[in-house]
Amino acid sequence: MKQLSVPHLIGIKNLQKKDLELIFETADHFKEVINRPIKKVPSLRDITIANLFFENSTRTKLSFELAEKRLSADVINFSASQSSVKKGETLIDTVNNILAMKVDMVVMRHPMVGAHKFLSQNVDAKIINAGDGTHEHPTQAILDTYSMRAKLGDLKDKKVVIIGDILHSRVALSNIYALQLLGAKVMVCGPPSLIPVHISKLGVEVEYNLEKALQWCDVANILRVQHERMDVKYFPSIREYTQLYGVNMHLLNKLGKEIVVMHPGPINRGVEITSEVADSEHAIILDQVENGVATRMAVVYLLAQQIKRL
Ligand code: CP
Repeated sequence: MKQLSVPHLIGIKNLQKKDLELIFETADHFKEVINRPIKKVPSLRDITIANLFFENSTRTKLSFELAEKRLSADVINFSASQSSVKKGETLIDTVNNILAMKVDMVVMRHPMVGAHKFLSQNVDAKIINAGDGTHEHPTQAILDTYSMRAKLGDLKDKKVVIIGDILHSRVALSNIYALQLLGAKVMVCGPPSLIPVHISKLGVEVEYNLEKALQWCDVANILRVQHERMDVKYFPSIREYTQLYGVNMHLLNKLGKEIVVMHPGPINRGVEITSEVADSEHAIILDQVENGVATRMAVVYLLAQQIKRL
């Protein structure tokens, strides 16, 4: 049986192209399963998974929980805001206490960059990164590239622009790594203050003009401005941001070609994207959410296969 080349999913940076292809192939199978009247398989009946969320989440948390339950794993959920973390307990103590309850796998979102790597070196469980600060969000990039592939076929030489707050985005970095593994060309577009200074060293193009970026691309992946991570002002006003970097129907109509519009969510309607575009036939935003369940089932299933007693 084919296996992932990594023992944990810490970031896309650690993966090879063959890992993404194996995840996609496995997700194709699970997508068929979740469209059956009985959407569940018994594959992980003897596996227990803890979902630890130290930051807010809607899509990632719910889709991991659904993915795990559809594989018949036992699932426990932990939210930092209602836990003893509030009383000063450390990450390693929290996780070791949870593992003492015989947990096999930890899915974690944490604000600290590198928290997952640290955990994988210090606890005896499979670790999946559901977002670490501004660093990586690997399963978002997996579901994004899976959704692009479903729409456009092979991503080799496809042109993808990531628009908006690149500086604070873990989705951007994971998407860049995943798209490059799959042979796509990547551009980033946004205000100069929200584009990391050395990003071109990753082999991506940089464009500050939204119209030119949209003209260049096959796919536009639009990101939210992450006000919660900003301690200073990065642009004069939301109104100005929207005027320069908001994607609206007028811009799409001017292109004279079809592009695929994506957004990882949560959307700030009327800021980085208008409702008219978000709800249009150009957008595959809800396909992304649907594919999140099948792709996360694939990741959880493939890592669980590495646990020896299976
Ligand atoms: N895309 C994403 O990570 O959404 P949530 O923050 O709701 O999980």
